[in-house]
Amino acid sequence: MPKIAVLPGDGIGQEIIPQAVRVLKAVLAEADADFEFQDYPVGGAAIELVGKALPDETLQGCREADAVLLGAVGGHQWDHLPASERPETAALLGLRKGLNFYANIRPVRMIPSLLATSTLKEDVLDGVDMVVIRELTGGVYFGEKGRSDNPRSAYDKMSYSEEEIRRILVQGFETAMLRNKKLCSVDKANVLETSRLWREIANELAKEYPEVELTHMYVDNAAMQLVRNPKQFDVIVTENMFGDILTDLASMLGGSIGMLSSASLSGSQGMYEPAHGSAPDIAGKNLANPLATILSAALMLRYSFGMEAEALRIENAVEKVLEQGYRTGDLAQAGDKVVGTIEMGDAVLAAL
Ligand code: NAD
Ligand code: IPM
Ligand code: MN
Repeated sequence: MPKIAVLPGDGIGQEIIPQAVRVLKAVLAEADADFEFQDYPVGGAAIELVGKALPDETLQGCREADAVLLGAVGGHQWDHLPASERPETAALLGLRKGLNFYANIRPVRMIPSLLATSTLKEDVLDGVDMVVIRELTGGVYFGEKGRSDNPRSAYDKMSYSEEEIRRILVQGFETAMLRNKKLCSVDKANVLETSRLWREIANELAKEYPEVELTHMYVDNAAMQLVRNPKQFDVIVTENMFGDILTDLASMLGGSIGMLSSASLSGSQGMYEPAHGSAPDIAGKNLANPLATILSAALMLRYSFGMEAEALRIENAVEKVLEQGYRTGDLAQAGDKVVGTIEMGDAVLAAL
């Protein structure tokens, strides 16, 4: 029986994950598919429970599972902890590295009924449909770090091997082949050596994908172009930190950070999580938008289990509730009736 490890984590993670699990279970039941769901503590919640952000039992459970569904981790209570202990680094980066989830896929699509939601102009956003592919287990996040006290200084080393660059670029080219065959590789090759290597390898690989139109763009320009004319992009591929920053920016092209789903793939396994964090400012109040997590569950069915029809059912249900006018606070315009996290989950279940 396929196993799903469920890691709610911290803050709104505790609220959005139950909604995604309800939707998953409903879809699986109707498909007559028997799956095993097992909850594990992670992040600050695990620190409070067993003194460790990524308990061995959680890591082991994720290793043995076919897919992982994660909410979010982190919160002010744990911000003072050293990197080796805090939720974001020990748990989230630990899981990504530990299970080799190197390919992070973040689809950005403007659902027509949300056009008025974004702070950007409707004609700029109408028809936005792109995928950002972010390298997830290398770069400055995982390089050597250090600090000196007198005089105070700190460093984070950014490095990439050919193998790390090649496999994420292959993911980019392969994704482009399945879409409009346009791949934009985003780097900072005017300054960074890692980017120059990245660009070299991208150009080499382009020869193996003659149908794909490969372009290169500096990351600062890419940030500007995403806001100026996002429809020029089909597939973007970029390194870890650039991808982190650009995808939060790009989330507003789909209406809200509360809509941005993600899949982190290793080749054999996947972890699925919304791109946003634990949102301590709204946690515990039934205010969070669960749709990014519900859409991440759809990505799980698609990528980990090949259940395309079931993935589409979830995605269509999400579109339907938005058409029906259901809005959590992050999606609401003046005059909209705002619903809570649970009510949004109810609506998606009803729309399946
Ligand atoms: P955040 O994404 O948690 O929140 C940013 C803003 O977006 C907040 O105003 C929040 O209320 C809003 N928001 C986020 N998700 C929402 C949703 N589903 N519905 C409605 N509004 C939503 O980012 P932050 O405030 O910079 O970080 C908070 C904590 O989360 C930090 O500890 C951070 O390290 C952590 N974090 C974790 C992850 C993760 O686990 N994948 C990702 C990002 C941040
Ligand atoms: C994300 C988050 C994480 C990242 C943090 C919490 C480590 O922002 O998933 O985008 O930077 O990758
Ligand atoms: Mn981020």
